[in-house]
Amino acid sequence: MTPPTLLTPGRIDGFETRNRLFMAPMTRSRALAGGVPSELAIDYYAQRASAGLILTEGVAPSAIGLGYARTPAIESAEQIAAWKKITAAVKAKGGRMFMQFMHVGRIGHAVNRYTSEPLIAPSVVRANGQIWTDAQGLQDFDTPRAIETNEIPGVIEGFAQATRNALAAGCDGVELHSASGYLPMQFLSTGSNKRTDGYGGSVQNRIRFVVETLQAMTAAAGDASKVGIKLSPAMPFNDIKDDDPIETYTTLVRAIAPMRLAYLHVLRTPPIPTIFEILRPHFPGPFAAGGAFDLATGNAALASGLADFIVFGKLFTSNPDLPARFANGLELTPFDATTFYSPGPKGYTDFLPAGAQSS
Ligand SMILES: Cc1cc2nc3c(=O)[nH]c(=O)nc-3n(C[C@H](O)[C@H](O)[C@H](O)COP(=O)(O)O)c2cc1C
Repeated sequence: MTPPTLLTPGRIDGFETRNRLFMAPMTRSRALAGGVPSELAIDYYAQRASAGLILTEGVAPSAIGLGYARTPAIESAEQIAAWKKITAAVKAKGGRMFMQFMHVGRIGHAVNRYTSEPLIAPSVVRANGQIWTDAQGLQDFDTPRAIETNEIPGVIEGFAQATRNALAAGCDGVELHSASGYLPMQFLSTGSNKRTDGYGGSVQNRIRFVVETLQAMTAAAGDASKVGIKLSPAMPFNDIKDDDPIETYTTLVRAIAPMRLAYLHVLRTPPIPTIFEILRPHFPGPFAAGGAFDLATGNAALASGLADFIVFGKLFTSNPDLPARFANGLELTPFDATTFYSPGPKGYTDFLPAGAQSS
């Protein structure tokens, strides 16, 4: 059998993808006040509809999960209505889209939030570092309050409700952001989880929040093949630390393997260069690998069976037609990091498809 390439159709339990490229979830900080995505996001996502699957920017399940400036949520009727316009535009171009749920936990600042509630986290451990606020520039992260044991079911139910909201808004599925030092990863990691109840301490306890959240999301979706998860073992971003990431993540992946999720998405970061080889044998379903891939390394990972899908982030910001550029051997436009999080269309919706650029 010919080995798959980036341009071969792929399969998630629920549907076929037209190629093996996922567009990575990317926060772009263009939302309006109150966590509502802007009209600009309609064009931005529709321009990228040729990806096999679009993963949206991190979207807060509710106001308490928001920490960054100009980032969206999926809670209110207004937010859901705005997302409906985005999914409709993507669908009109034959695209597929999963919404990524990003609950920041302890990563945020009050100035960026439209709720007066403080940040919540597994434990009262402030992350070292700073975050951008439009009103006051760079600020130290706020100190979170610890989630009480009897509040955990409510936090998990927030992800279930967000699942219902995202599907009602027309998304094909949802992804739990359990990477990059946000709430689920704060539960997984020994540095941020100092709990003494059933959600902290042993590895079985530290994975419990993620497992129960996935169970609630799949129940809400009525179908596990509409739910994926992203992990970034040992990534030090957002001051996250774990004593034994290989033990933590192999235990987690073994626990979720029987759930028949849509896919496991793993971001490889320098501390564990062999993380795909380590985790893949524990997960029988579709495996999406991300982190600094290009055409050649992406195709090589697919051909060797290391992954079923390749996730591209930065390249999709400046090459909205990335699959066509790969298919036709066209030059890639370099990304512009200065406009990753800046407001307005510049660097967001003004990177055009290859043919349009040369005319
Ligand atoms: C501007 C920008 C914003 C990002 N925001 C998110 C996010 O909201 N959620 C997430 O899981 N990862 C986020 N990431 C990480 C990407 O999803 C991806 O894992 C990372 O960029 C590595 O892929 P790449 O080397 O192809 O860019 C972001 C990356 C960039 C460049």
